[in-house]
Amino acid sequence: MLTAGRARLAVDGGPPVRRGPLTPRQPFPEEAVRLATEAIRSGSLFGVGGVLTERFETEFAAFYGADHAVTVSSGTAAIHTALAALDPSPGAEVVTAPITDAGSVLPILYQGCVPVFADVADHLGMDPRAVEACVTDRTVAILAVHPFGGATDARALRAIADRHGVALLEDCSQAHGTRYDGTFLGRYGHIGMYSLQQSKQMTAGEGGVCVTDDDRLASEMRLFRDKGWDRAGGGSRGYPRLGLNYRASELVAAVALPQLATLDSVLARRRSSAALLDAAVDKAPGVTRWNPLAGCDASYWCYPFFVPSGDTARWGEALAAEGVPTTPGYIGEPIYACMAALQGGGTFGTSDYPLDRAYPPDLCPRARDALTRLMVFWLHEDLTGDDVSDVGAAIIKVATAFAHQP
Ligand SMILES: Cc1ncc(COP(=O)(O)O)c(C=O)c1O
Repeated sequence: MLTAGRARLAVDGGPPVRRGPLTPRQPFPEEAVRLATEAIRSGSLFGVGGVLTERFETEFAAFYGADHAVTVSSGTAAIHTALAALDPSPGAEVVTAPITDAGSVLPILYQGCVPVFADVADHLGMDPRAVEACVTDRTVAILAVHPFGGATDARALRAIADRHGVALLEDCSQAHGTRYDGTFLGRYGHIGMYSLQQSKQMTAGEGGVCVTDDDRLASEMRLFRDKGWDRAGGGSRGYPRLGLNYRASELVAAVALPQLATLDSVLARRRSSAALLDAAVDKAPGVTRWNPLAGCDASYWCYPFFVPSGDTARWGEALAAEGVPTTPGYIGEPIYACMAALQGGGTFGTSDYPLDRAYPPDLCPRARDALTRLMVFWLHEDLTGDDVSDVGAAIIKVATAFAHQP
């Protein structure tokens, strides 16, 4: 390990900080294996009404203090299900974030709505002033995105939503178990949505969950994920609403359920590794911390940090050579610039429906600038102290070398 002085970078032929791979993540507890086996042996993996799915929904709702949880097949499906439950008219606008996954934006388009992007604040969550400036009489919802395990100011966004009579939906795909001012993210809005995709703090490989206290929205979501089928109807089939098949199987519940009991310790380990990396970043010239929104107990989906603008690719190469894989720039450009459909490439057939505007590169200049400086290290709960120490040492080594050869 190397913590001081200037050493030859591995990318220039010097010895790497780390020779072997970092410890891999093992997110699935033994209890998940037991429950999945039990589910398979039961002979039925159908999720709706399934024993494990119902138990998972009850316990997930209890964990977050919500009245309802609705399991679906992915985070994207959770966002689509939440938005569809609002039953927006075609052409309605949804205000969302420029630094996010396409899974936040695609449901807006598939629901016939128009995404409107509000720029970010320094913590990379949406800036409430920018959000309010985006609200028009066509706005149906604010779709807040909580980035990297940190928070967008959900309380401020709820106040804006209430002031304008629109819904607040919270995309907590990256923010399982994150509290902001003592309240879980996902609980400020009318609906909170979580992804259970492989990289998330809690995972079933794929899957998603929506939480709400609103009985009507919960039953709309249950209909939507089940092809709009009202199973309570009995007799001949009734489909009072359009819907899709976004059901998740019993295996999703089997794998995710036991992680509710371990989430707190998973997040504690992520937080203490992040604190060690913060200390390393503070010693690395030219590198700065990502500071989550004040009052937010971030859950570190990953460990983001900032390097000089335009240097992310060079940093990515240098860190990889030192044995530390990263994703330079996260998504590279604001999400509207990453998606061909939003850049004139067409949405459905030869049309741009439902889009009625352009999304120029500088629409959200702060998001764009932040992504030119952002590095993402895939921190997780199973990293050892040595792993984290090597990652910190690699950051300091690269920063020190670059400070001498700008
Ligand atoms: C912020 C955010 N929203 C939505 C999604 C979509 O989730 P999924 O991949 O489970 O569909 C993701 C997944 O990466 C995400 O990070």
